[in-house]
Amino acid sequence: MVGSMVKLATDAYVDGKWLPGSRRFVVRDPFDDAPIAEVTAGDGALADLASEAAARAFASWRTKPAPERGKLLAALGARMIADVDRLAALCTRENGKALSESVGEVRYAASFLSWFAGEAERAYGEAIPASNTNQRLMVHREPVGPCALITPWNFPYAMLTRKLGAALAAGCTAVAKPAAQTPLSALALAELAEAVGIPPGVINIVPTDEPSSVVGRWIASPAIRKVGFTGSTEVGRTLLRQCADDLKRVSLELGGNAPFVVLADADLDAAVAGAMIAKFRNAGQSCVAANRFVLDTAIAQPFTKKLVAAISKLKVGRGSDPGVDLGPLIDDNAVAKLRRLINDALEKGAQIVHGSQPGTSRLVAPIVLDGITAEMAIWREEIFGPVVALRTAANETDALVQANDSEYGLVAYVYTRDAARQQRFVDGLATGMVGVNEGLVSTAQAPFGGIKHSGFGREGSRHGLDDYTALKYVATRV
Ligand code: SIN
Repeated sequence: MVGSMVKLATDAYVDGKWLPGSRRFVVRDPFDDAPIAEVTAGDGALADLASEAAARAFASWRTKPAPERGKLLAALGARMIADVDRLAALCTRENGKALSESVGEVRYAASFLSWFAGEAERAYGEAIPASNTNQRLMVHREPVGPCALITPWNFPYAMLTRKLGAALAAGCTAVAKPAAQTPLSALALAELAEAVGIPPGVINIVPTDEPSSVVGRWIASPAIRKVGFTGSTEVGRTLLRQCADDLKRVSLELGGNAPFVVLADADLDAAVAGAMIAKFRNAGQSCVAANRFVLDTAIAQPFTKKLVAAISKLKVGRGSDPGVDLGPLIDDNAVAKLRRLINDALEKGAQIVHGSQPGTSRLVAPIVLDGITAEMAIWREEIFGPVVALRTAANETDALVQANDSEYGLVAYVYTRDAARQQRFVDGLATGMVGVNEGLVSTAQAPFGGIKHSGFGREGSRHGLDDYTALKYVATRV
């Protein structure tokens, strides 16, 4: 597939049909900018067709017995696994990530479908003990309605299935807009949805390079009752404001600025192993990436030495080449951002202890910066690249204060062998998720999401259905 335009699903998938728009846009390989495919550029008209289809399909999908909805979700997950190699190659092609990571992503994405296949059957209501003998109080969970799902380029399958799985399990239908950089993965998923028999209109995918023309229409449509978004805090804020007029439900999985704390008593080998995954998964382009390393001064030197040794083994290159760990960054803006953050840190006194300042290539080898302070932009902003920013802390209390010094609150990692310290960090960290001696918290069974400027709502786990269901309370006089 490398280096050639490929035969793929490239039109919008609406109401079970593949619809070409009036214009197309080019999807490029982040490695060399080579064109991969020309994809339908969705516009207001296609967006309307999609939301109308989702509204029509909602009437029958919501009444389909939950086990039947679950079976279709499970079938879609199984088809993803059966097709893992093709899907992974496609992901690497349009996202750039190492092939082994794309394989992992397809499996991760499929796990949300099988998880929510089960949750569909467990969307229990409640029977509430009434204070009058002649009353029965019941609570039902109902689907909120057709949902608009807006997904990012960094995990093009998983961020879609994590939302779609919950929406469809709850009985909602969906219109989805994948990121302009990675629409092909979403369209490949739509092909599989069609193949396993998910009814027309239940899933509609509208790719576009002009997001506002599609998303704006969905937000204006009274048929769409919920918006689920993963992406930047800035865009999340705008969507939230826009959704206010129609009082749509909104769940936002936004930026992170994860602290990675290593305390004096930590198992340093375990901490380095955790740091490698927390920092370098998807070349650092993840909202749960370790952004700020906070090291107790007692272990700062040995930890850094071990970390640099592990980093030195990483291979950077085209994601599809054997043995590559880190593929290219998604685009030139991502590289320019790293340069800005590194320059700012160096001007304010940081030192490079491994690697060198990136040039213009999207292939960025890992860089380790020491001497980070709270005045540097790299301390405040999400890096989204393979840059390690190290700061020291005098003791446990200082480390916790530093860890919480961020407007974001998605995830924090802490390494310590001491159970009491672990608990103090679990209690004290202002984040939605915590990894204790663990560098990867993401899994379908767990509630993924943040607090503060990292957004609200939870994806995955039994709580994942909450944002897609509304409670209906029924009082019956008997
Ligand atoms: C993200 O980066 O947005 C999600 C990463 C994950 O699910 O682990």
